[in-house]
Formats: sequence, C-alpha cells, structure tokens
Amino acid sequence: MLTGAGISAESGVPTFRGADGLWKNHRATDLATPQAFAADPELVWEFYNWRRGLIGKVTFNAAHQALVTLEERVPAFTLITQNVDGLHLLAGSRNVLEIHGNLWKVRCTRCGRIRLDRNPDMGRRPVCEECGGLLRPHVVWFGESLDPDLLGRAVEAARISQVMLVIGTSAVVQPAASLALEAKAAGARVAEINLEPTGQSGTMDYALHGKAGEIVPRLVEP
Ligand code: OAD
Repeated sequence: MLTGAGISAESGVPTFRGADGLWKNHRATDLATPQAFAADPELVWEFYNWRRGLIGKVTFNAAHQALVTLEERVPAFTLITQNVDGLHLLAGSRNVLEIHGNLWKVRCTRCGRIRLDRNPDMGRRPVCEECGGLLRPHVVWFGESLDPDLLGRAVEAARISQVMLVIGTSAVVQPAASLALEAKAAGARVAEINLEPTGQSGTMDYALHGKAGEIVPRLVEP
C-alpha cells in the first residue's frame, strides 16, 4: 500500500497541493525545504509548530482503520506512507514505512541525534539537549534524499507485492510516485483511490475516484 496526504484529509490534515496547502500566504511546499530552514529557521519552526498543534488535535479516520483491518487479514502487508502525521501508527497499523519521516521526531542539525517529542509547540528556535545544536523536524524536505534503508525496503515491498493500493497521493513526488510503477512492472495489480484522476490513473489497473474514507472501508468489507 502507498498512502499520501489525501488519506488524512478527512481527519482534518491539510494536503500539500490542494487549496488548503497555504499557510500565512506561504505555500507549504516552499517551507518544507532545507533552503527555507537555512534562511529562516524560526519561520519554518513556526510552520511546523502550527502543523504539530493541528495534527495533535486530530485523529485517524475510517480509511486508516480499514488498512489496519486489511493488515490483520493479509499475511504479508507493508504500508508505505509519505505522510509525516503518524496517523497510521496511531490507528494501529504495524508494518509502516514512514519514508518522509515523522512530525513528532526532531533531529539535531549538529550531532544528528533523533528523539521523539510530542510537545506541540517546540518554541521559536529549539536546541538539542545534548550538544546545544539547532533542532529540525525529522522529516524529508524537498531536495533531500530519503533514508536509503527505508527506501530499499519500500522498493522491495513494491516488487514482491501482488496488489498495491495507492491512496490519496498526487503521485508527483519521487521516488514515492514510482513505487506503483515498480509494483506494476513486477506483476502486481495496482489500484488508485483518489478524489480525482492523477497523472498515474492511466497506468493503473483500477482507478476509484471519491473519498478515501468511503472507498477504502468498502474494499475491505468481508
Ligand atoms: P498532495 O497534497 O500532493 O496530494 C494529495 C492527494 O490527495 C491529491 O491527489 C488529492 O486529490 C487527494 N485527496 C485529497 N483529499 C482526498 C480524500 N478525501 N480522499 C482521497 N484522496 C484525496 O500530497 P502527497 O501526494 O502526499 O513531502 O504529497 C507527497 C509529498 O509532497 C508529501 O509527503 C510531502 C509533500 O511535499 C514531504 O513532506 C517531503
């Protein structure tokens, strides 16, 4: 399975490229970059503090829950998510690869230490308890590479899959977008579930258009 921001939209989490992808007149995709952080870490932290506050108040929805049910039924199940909101883990999914990181983790830009911090407001310029270096969100920003180990596991899961559901992603961010093609090339059936057609709809075996919270639960009905 591959999920993107659309699966959390019905939980109240803004997507990146939709009309709600704007924060204080900044596009979310402009702030989630190493350049933005280097130029103005306080602005980027303000944006992430806002996202942490928002995500701390929402919960998983019927689509996340349906994937938990599916995992209980399917012997080998891997959930690759581009989402950093942690809602799949909160819902109870177990084999989750958070290839873009997790909003509740912070990483020191000096010593590299990663820790979990569920405090919604990290302040203007949070620093590492160990070395005093500036902390950053432990998420993958535009222009940054994915953790090679996690990416390798995601590619492997795609290659050995028999069925891949691609849920709520605009399928424009690589390498995540190529995972469905990997799966298909290796013989899997692939299905897209999205509010609207995407650039990948044509290569899908099935394209189901509508809300993830309505469609995904119907797919796992006994
Ligand atoms: P996008 O915001 O690009 O796309 C969200 C997709 O979800 C769109 O195709 C919508 O049509 C669809 N959608 C919205 N609401 C939906 C609903 N209720 N049911 C089904 N589909 C719905 O988000 P991603 O594809 O996840 O990266 O974006 C990929 C990456 O780009 C993100 O992980 C993030 C972003 O910048 C990083 O943070 C590194």
